[in-house]
Amino acid sequence: MNRRAPEIWIGDDPATLAREGARRVAEAARRAIAARGRFVFVLSGGNTPRRLYRLLAAEEHGIDWRRVEFLFSDERMVPYDDPESNYRMVRETLLDHIPAAPEHTHPIPTDCSPAEAAAAYEAELRRVLDPKEPRPDLVLLGMGADGHTASIFPGSPLLEECRDEETLPEGRPPRSSRSYREERLCVPVEDAPKPPHKRVTLTPYLINQGRQILVLVTGEDKVAAVSAALESDAEPSEIPIRAIAPESGVVSWLLDRKAARALTNAPW
Ligand code: 6PG
Repeated sequence: MNRRAPEIWIGDDPATLAREGARRVAEAARRAIAARGRFVFVLSGGNTPRRLYRLLAAEEHGIDWRRVEFLFSDERMVPYDDPESNYRMVRETLLDHIPAAPEHTHPIPTDCSPAEAAAAYEAELRRVLDPKEPRPDLVLLGMGADGHTASIFPGSPLLEECRDEETLPEGRPPRSSRSYREERLCVPVEDAPKPPHKRVTLTPYLINQGRQILVLVTGEDKVAAVSAALESDAEPSEIPIRAIAPESGVVSWLLDRKAARALTNAPW
């Protein structure tokens, strides 16, 4: 597999990181809109991107928001007004403050079972993505202290499929033989170790279609996971974010100094 080493950018603190993240999102948006007429933006949940979203909303970045399609990396199965809702967080920090087109905002449904929500979102993703080139322009991700990303947790069956093809169990068709139509883009999660336990997540397959992937990580509690993700041979089943290795997209990690503290190859 042709996998470029990720870019690692380290900022002094979470505020500096949010500024750099917002600058990169804006640049990617302007470029995508100029090239393809729209920007397909996958938003991350969790706490880390809040500042970035607020900056995007507060400052003038030259983004034509009506041409942005907003998708979600994952969602917790709680009502949209629940404090744990990723959609609520994104609405409060970003969507409520910009002229986004309601028909271009695609939250994951939560008023049903995770399986129904994943099936509905799978269909929605296939409507939004261009079937000839089903690639989000930018995927924003966070990482938990256990190395999870989106709602892909250690031990997830999704990660089995991310093993090198040579080590796949006998009889399992290699991923390279599967087409976009056969791949799953979104799946239910019934027992996430981090509450809320019921969730829906995009798959590594879809995340890896991103033209650009930005991973935002801050804080002391992520030190070990950052080292395991970037400087170990851990299997994706142990450190799920290691499944994020696109064949042609670009992955950039934006870290603050605290999270990057134990990296030995950091560009200090
Ligand atoms: C979620 C996520 C998850 C998150 C990480 C980091 O909905 O829980 O999308 O993958 O990004 O757990 O979360 P923090 O930014 O809150 O540390």
